[in-house]
Amino acid sequence: MPKYSFTLNGEKVTVNAPGDLSVLWALRDKLGVTGPKYGCGINVCKACTSHINGKAFNPCSVQVGDIKTSDEITTIEGLPATVGAELHPMQEAWLDNDVAQCGYCQPGQIMAAVALVKEVKASGRAITDDDLDGLRNICRCGTYVRIREAIKAGAEQM
Ligand code: FES
Ligand code: FES
Repeated sequence: MPKYSFTLNGEKVTVNAPGDLSVLWALRDKLGVTGPKYGCGINVCKACTSHINGKAFNPCSVQVGDIKTSDEITTIEGLPATVGAELHPMQEAWLDNDVAQCGYCQPGQIMAAVALVKEVKASGRAITDDDLDGLRNICRCGTYVRIREAIKAGAEQM
């Protein structure tokens, strides 16, 4: 079986897998990294949202054979290390706002939020409700109001 190497949460990893295996299953089944959740498998629910080279992506819809050796993937497990803390400020804001209900969608929500805030801040402005309207992560528990409050609070600390 072919081998694919890339950086995952700051560590070089190699997986033996068919090239058409989705990155989500490579992470979850081959590498034991289960923060990115499976919801739809077709890039709709966003439960699997993680980062590739600092930008949000949905690993259910990318094949491991398309990942380059130089690519850096970050999942919720590796998020705190990106700021050298026990928790990322967005995770702290999530706790402060008691966002999670069942929790299933929450890693994807947080990863999407961090990528969005970074992108907005890089353009030199504050996050707006219009920006938040662009997030498409589904929460079947309907925690959207608390998600929005937490993103605004987390953005202030990022
Ligand atoms: S599982 Fe990846 S977008 Fe739904
Ligand atoms: S907290 Fe249950 S799906 Fe979002």
